[in-house]
Amino acid sequence: MSTAATRPLNVILIGFMGCGKTTVGNLLARQLGFQFLDTDQLIVKKAKRPIPVIFEQEGEAGFRALESAILDDLTDCDRSVIATGGGIVTVPENVPKLRQLGLVIWLNPPEDVLYQRIIRNHDRPLVRTENPRQTVHDLLTIRRPLYSNAAHLDVDVSDVTPDEAAYGLAESVRVFFTAPLSPCDTGS
Ligand code: S3P
Repeated sequence: MSTAATRPLNVILIGFMGCGKTTVGNLLARQLGFQFLDTDQLIVKKAKRPIPVIFEQEGEAGFRALESAILDDLTDCDRSVIATGGGIVTVPENVPKLRQLGLVIWLNPPEDVLYQRIIRNHDRPLVRTENPRQTVHDLLTIRRPLYSNAAHLDVDVSDVTPDEAAYGLAESVRVFFTAPLSPCDTGS
């Protein structure tokens, strides 16, 4: 039986583009005294190219391969808050790896909130389409069950400030890491 002591102390934030993984993740890391990591930033550093350029040169499949490789690099991580790219759950092999890394939290604001945040930023190649509103809707329809399946916990923190969200999440994280797992919980 695994216990709280044998689980890596990481928090993994998943969710759609614009859900606040980086903003809330940074603040949460500070609250917990953990380091903050962001898979998109790690990909850019390793590939030495911005994300839109990776998509242009290697397509989405090339980007996903880099993303999965970065996830593999994080296996020995501990005491970290890890913000992930919105599409990381679309590669099925990534999901058990995310869950083995620690507590997976899905930041899940309403679609309108996501859309308003996404259109303010031009760094997201997947929504550079003729009808971004429809693209966001279609991608969300496909991905919601994937996030739900990957997450231990899902929260909508869009009606509070990022500081308040981080404070509340830190409380949940502390509870999760101090509670022993039940005998039937394999940790996966
Ligand atoms: C993507 C989300 C982006 C980035 C890439 C692909 C996606 O990360 O990984 O543009 O497929 O949803 P954010 O969720 O941090 O915007």
